[in-house]
Amino acid sequence: MKAAEIRRKYIDFFKKHGHQEIRSASLIPDNDPTCLFTTAGMHPLVPYLQGARHPAGRRLTDFQKCIRTGDIDEVGDAVHLTFFEMLGNWSLGDYFKAEAIRFSFEFLTSEEQLGIPVSMLAVTVFAGDADAPFDAEAYRLWNELGIPAERIAKLGKKDNWWGPAGTTGPCGPDTEMFYWTGPLPAPAVFDPADKRWVEIWNDVFMEYNKTAEGTYEPLAQRNVDTGMGLERVTAVLQGKASCYQTEIFEPLFAALDRVRGAAAPAGDRTPGERIIVDHLRAATFILADGITPGRVDQPYVLRRLIRRAIREGRKLGIAGPFAAEVAQAVIDQLGDVYPELREQREVIISELDREEKLFAATLENGTREFQKLIDRVPPHIARKVISGKNAFNLYETYGFPIELTVEMAREQGFEVDLPGYREAYRRHQELSRAGAEQKFKGGLADHSVATARLHTATHLLQAALRRVLGDHVEQRGSNITAERLRFDFSHPDKVTPEQLAEVEKLVNAAIAGNLPVECREMSVEEARKTGAMGLFGNKYGEVVKVYRMGDVSCEICGGPHAANTGELGGFKILKEESSSRGVRRIKAVITPRD
Ligand code: ALA
Repeated sequence: MKAAEIRRKYIDFFKKHGHQEIRSASLIPDNDPTCLFTTAGMHPLVPYLQGARHPAGRRLTDFQKCIRTGDIDEVGDAVHLTFFEMLGNWSLGDYFKAEAIRFSFEFLTSEEQLGIPVSMLAVTVFAGDADAPFDAEAYRLWNELGIPAERIAKLGKKDNWWGPAGTTGPCGPDTEMFYWTGPLPAPAVFDPADKRWVEIWNDVFMEYNKTAEGTYEPLAQRNVDTGMGLERVTAVLQGKASCYQTEIFEPLFAALDRVRGAAAPAGDRTPGERIIVDHLRAATFILADGITPGRVDQPYVLRRLIRRAIREGRKLGIAGPFAAEVAQAVIDQLGDVYPELREQREVIISELDREEKLFAATLENGTREFQKLIDRVPPHIARKVISGKNAFNLYETYGFPIELTVEMAREQGFEVDLPGYREAYRRHQELSRAGAEQKFKGGLADHSVATARLHTATHLLQAALRRVLGDHVEQRGSNITAERLRFDFSHPDKVTPEQLAEVEKLVNAAIAGNLPVECREMSVEEARKTGAMGLFGNKYGEVVKVYRMGDVSCEICGGPHAANTGELGGFKILKEESSSRGVRRIKAVITPRD
């Protein structure tokens, strides 16, 4: 049975039993500061599990987009996925254990549904502890339906308790259903430690609320929350050892083969190939929900997913851009089920292309530098370590995220001195702050704090303009007083109010990101390698100052600058006008914090 059919059967089954179908919520949780992504079908339903009235009623069913990043380092093995679809049905204070277990049993075993023989199934129930008693009712219900006692295991909280989705909220004991994937016949006695029993569905009896103090109190109503991972159940029912062997990933691997110019291999896909399709599938869905790559929170996870996929692509010998090709395959495959994929297609493709270009430069230069560090260590040294200072240099000069350095080091049998890295990071920030303060003290025409901040804002403005209007934007002139900045740049048309609003938003986001403003002196050639802007007019061999503000801006400049973008306060554009043919002028201010 194909995934699309399982999805449809599931929804139809629960609709037949009085459930309303609801649409998948966004991957980005509303009003949940404890979680970056939607991790389960129940997640967007938390207020309703707590007693709020759901407009669609008390019996709901859906397929929900989910991201779980906890397992990110395990991606590439047979079972872990970053993005997956979860089929679910809910009772919001309506039916409870008896109906929930009967529905599950019928859907799994009935000929019109999944048609799984009872002999292939086993279940677990909650064994009981200080917080809640043994779930004798669930045990009895399964047994009455025909699951023999030897196929029912009683397990503790680690295995048979679900939730909350974040750190607090609805949770409760659960009962999990397992399918035998080993040689037939399935063993008469269920051993939950035997990995050939694969979990396919989880019914949670949500009647508790976990408080911030870590205690469990009864919820206002007793709910049912169930979750069936679509990719996993598809693989299991098709007798495949891995989700990656199902039709779900076929078009994604095919897209990858196309860009590589390689024929599909006869055997299993490699971990690298799996990482690429998994991460780009997740990235495509995150982009469709309005997140773009950045330095913190969801934007950072997104960036990490894309960059890890690109790096695996390079390892496979794919030189050119390829992320968009895989994303297009995702859109073609699931665009009817998740219309936002088609609606956001252009954003998805252009953001992936952009990130890929950005990372390509970083990767090339940084990898060369990284390899030099590795080659310097003689092979006979037993404990091979990359020093914190060197790891920091890779970050600061080549934009290598520390996770990437750690991963690449591990591949070559090296460790990274992480405490040393953090120390180098901290010391550098102090130094650049002291340096900036020094500069304020003398030498410059106007060295007030306000002017320095406006210099910094000008870099952010240029970066934002390039992002919103395109890479043709280049500085044509700049004039800064303590009161305002004036920035001239190449652009053929008037900048629309919408574009200006977007530029303002980006600059303010960079300010909110508290990016350290890092200054390094280097030759023009080195500056070019790091991708710094403002190279024109500098002579060969000349030493220049390069100011970097996170991933947002990297530009040659004489300063002065703030030590951190967070010092800037609110950024506001006052005016946009023509300066000369093909050149526009913006005047802007910042409202200082102090
Ligand atoms: N919320 C439960 C799970 O994710 C159903 O397994």
